[in-house]
Amino acid sequence: MAEHFYPLRVAEILPETEEANSIRFAVPGDLTEAFQFRAGQHLTLRATIDGEEVRRNYSLCTAPAEGELKVTVKRIAGGVFSNWVADSLKVGDMVDVMTPHGSFTTPFDPAAMRRYVGFAGGSGITPVMSLIRTALTTEPESRFTLFYGNRDASSIIFLEALAALKDRYLGRFELYHFLSHEEGDVELFNGMLDRETCDAAIAHLVGDVEAVDAWFICGPGPMMDAAEAALLERDVTRDKIHIERFTAGRPSAALAAQMAALQQEAAGQTLSITLDGRTRKVEFSADNILDSARESGLSAPFACKAGVCATCRAKVVHGKVEMAARYGLTDEEIAAGYVLTCQSVPVGSDVAVDYDA
Ligand code: FES
Repeated sequence: MAEHFYPLRVAEILPETEEANSIRFAVPGDLTEAFQFRAGQHLTLRATIDGEEVRRNYSLCTAPAEGELKVTVKRIAGGVFSNWVADSLKVGDMVDVMTPHGSFTTPFDPAAMRRYVGFAGGSGITPVMSLIRTALTTEPESRFTLFYGNRDASSIIFLEALAALKDRYLGRFELYHFLSHEEGDVELFNGMLDRETCDAAIAHLVGDVEAVDAWFICGPGPMMDAAEAALLERDVTRDKIHIERFTAGRPSAALAAQMAALQQEAAGQTLSITLDGRTRKVEFSADNILDSARESGLSAPFACKAGVCATCRAKVVHGKVEMAARYGLTDEEIAAGYVLTCQSVPVGSDVAVDYDA
């Protein structure tokens, strides 16, 4: 689908910590349907800052049933968008918002009796919070265990909201804080969620990994890698591990060279692009399919351009495409032919991709 941004009014700004604010948007009645979302999904926000268009993805922290469109933005050093939000955004301002998307989710079923485990670090709690709220409210028999890493108590986003959930859902919600710059009595909870700590947390606080129906991981890269490795080593299957990344590592020199060679070969090739029901021939004129589509005037959607958000997802319906980073896609999506067009280069002359699929 072509990108659809809607101007939404900032209805409320709630400080969560010194560095993080939650922003609630007012959704006009005629857009209620368009802004329906699933737990764990995110919004792409767009603003012009110092004359430049900037886009960022922020996860929704609410459960869909709450009927509130709210994201949490943490100020990061040098972060253009997050600092603009923290310093300049006011209640009543209008922000361009793309409709919710993302696959960091699972189908919830009121009749299910499931066990969920989350690993979150810093602002990575945001989509996990949406999932926790949804699991606890829509599945009365399900349990959620959260391992949440932060620097110190003052930097914990949703500290009180999580404590309230724990009190309310006693026996169904287990919450463990891990602090890297503050020492408590229990050694396990001192330090970061590194590989050793993830191993210990799983061994002592989860036990039977086979009894867990879904694992959710979101936070800093090293934490996500540690949690994922700990699960894979315990033979947890990939379909049960959900990972949400917001930043990508640098591609290796070998991969960068391989992609550069493919780009050169593909330069000037024609490919076919379907968007909003129309199919057009487009020349491969940039570094990737997304930029080529946009250069030719198509409003193909994007946010991160780094292979993590999947906003630019399309399906290859003909021919072959090579992708550099692919963090934003699940194995099933890749198997079904989906690619991240911001990372994709056509191989050969008969490539057709469909943004509507
Ligand atoms: S724009 Fe984010 S993955 Fe392509």
